[in-house]
Amino acid sequence: MNDKEFDFLVLGSGIAGLFYALKVVPLGRVAIVTKKTSAESNTNYAQGGIAAVTSKEDTFAMHMRDTLTAGAGLCHEDAVRTVIEEGPARIAELIDLGMEFTEREHNGSRELDLGKEGGHSKRRILHAKDVTGREIERALLAAVALQSNIQIFENHFAIDLITTRKLRKKGRNRCLGAYVLNKATGQVETFAARAVLLATGGCGKVYLYTTNPDIATGDGVAMAYRAGAGVANMEFIQFHPTCLYHPKAKSFLISEAVRGEGGVLKTCAGQPFMDKYHPLKSLAPRDIVARAIDTEMKKSGDEHVVLDITHKPARFVMDRFPNIYDTCLRFGLDITKEPIPVVPAAHYQCGGVLTNIDGQTEIDDLYAVGEVACTGLHGANRLASNSLLEALVCADRAARQVREHPNRRIEAIIPQWQSGHAQNPDELVVISHNWDEIRRVMWDYVSIVRTNKRLKRAQTRIANLQEEIQEFYWDFIVTSDLLELRNIALVAELIVACALKRPESRGLHYNLDYPDANPEWAQQDTVLRK
Ligand code: FAD
Ligand code: SIN
Repeated sequence: MNDKEFDFLVLGSGIAGLFYALKVVPLGRVAIVTKKTSAESNTNYAQGGIAAVTSKEDTFAMHMRDTLTAGAGLCHEDAVRTVIEEGPARIAELIDLGMEFTEREHNGSRELDLGKEGGHSKRRILHAKDVTGREIERALLAAVALQSNIQIFENHFAIDLITTRKLRKKGRNRCLGAYVLNKATGQVETFAARAVLLATGGCGKVYLYTTNPDIATGDGVAMAYRAGAGVANMEFIQFHPTCLYHPKAKSFLISEAVRGEGGVLKTCAGQPFMDKYHPLKSLAPRDIVARAIDTEMKKSGDEHVVLDITHKPARFVMDRFPNIYDTCLRFGLDITKEPIPVVPAAHYQCGGVLTNIDGQTEIDDLYAVGEVACTGLHGANRLASNSLLEALVCADRAARQVREHPNRRIEAIIPQWQSGHAQNPDELVVISHNWDEIRRVMWDYVSIVRTNKRLKRAQTRIANLQEEIQEFYWDFIVTSDLLELRNIALVAELIVACALKRPESRGLHYNLDYPDANPEWAQQDTVLRK
């Protein structure tokens, strides 16, 4: 008998995992395994909002064109069409579940207030002030709490997927469940299920500076790769142009919506500079803005640039961006009176576990949805606020798939996890040293501007660290810190390997040794398999 058996095992409690759980619960019992508290996720920190066509002035064709332009020739057009066309219906469902978007008064009636972000030709971002993600998590968790057939396992860390290949069974590789560390007891439990959803989010923590919270250690990509699934386009790490630059502010994002409402990027000397780089100026696609900031900082030697919204009425700024206003004020900065010091930081993983638009991976009964997945929507650079939309649409489509394959059996006997021998507390400091080293190497050699030499240097360093980590992994009882270290090391290796495979510059991957896009690489994903 397995420790835990459910019809559906969901790894992660962000928008992708929660929306999927609500969609499949009519079909059976659902376990949601999440490594911290339920709300702790990238979703919870989303600010700008969800992009979707909801106004009369907008069309699917326009949203598609903006997505394809941002994606720099690498988007899968069918995936783009599906997500954009199905998005509005999924958002209506989210509203039915209790999500409250910000509204405005228009001609005597209430309508959704639409924001604007980089690369969008229309106002189309639905938002809850500047705390959209917090409101999404609130609404979805409240809806989940009403379902007695959904059980949430907080502080449970998914270590590895259990597959038929791992158990040396013949035939197609099929996912049977996952080994999960119960952080309270230190025991590794076996979760068996008919279908498993990876909804573990992205990998911002692979880099020294990131907008992401601590959960974003690429666990899903690492687990799927170890289990034999294809992983694609990991070289396309999106750097958000505007993370607050302040010694005490950890990872605080200044939403692109601030630029959408008129915020202007300037040098520390007060000079606007984006007109030199793109006709859309401060609202150009993110890859272009982040590179422009990088160039300006290198030119001036300054440690940041600034984002200036002081020309807008203070009341408007405080009402539209209450969280950004309050947070900056806590750091002694009144954004209605002073420009905001900002720097780019790692923000979003455009690649991930290779899936079709229904979330199906290359392993039977294993689905991946949300930031962990690579559906082809984002191509070489994600259009702002398209990720929450993708998570909703693909979670729904993955649920429809399992509805069509209802009778798969739960595997009766899965071998128990084999623990290492003992933990040596004296050595645990090595984990944090290795962790810091990987993040520093990735920031120094594999960030906004790359070269072959820097990438190879990173490859060698990461390979050495991998050896050390493997030793640790086998010799000591697992802890979540060690598991995350193993995962960020592998994900770092995959990012570098993908970057070295692409001999061109495209979207977010900019390599000085090949400064131009190579038409032969247009439409070619960078796929890695173990
Ligand atoms: P997440 O929301 O990250 O959830 C992942 C879940 O998996 C978490 O619960 C985590 O604890 C859990 N988990 C991870 N590993 C394990 C493991 N090993 N075992 C168990 N559980 C695990 N996108 C937009 O479209 N619009 C925005 O305005 C926007 N703003 C953003 C602002 C910030 C600051 C950040 C960081 C991102 C923003 N994004 C935005 C991106 C967007 O928030 C994410 O891409 C999206 O929320 C990802 O959702 P998800 O469900 O795939 O993953
Ligand atoms: C932001 O609010 O700037 C983040 C939007 C996104 O990442 O899509």
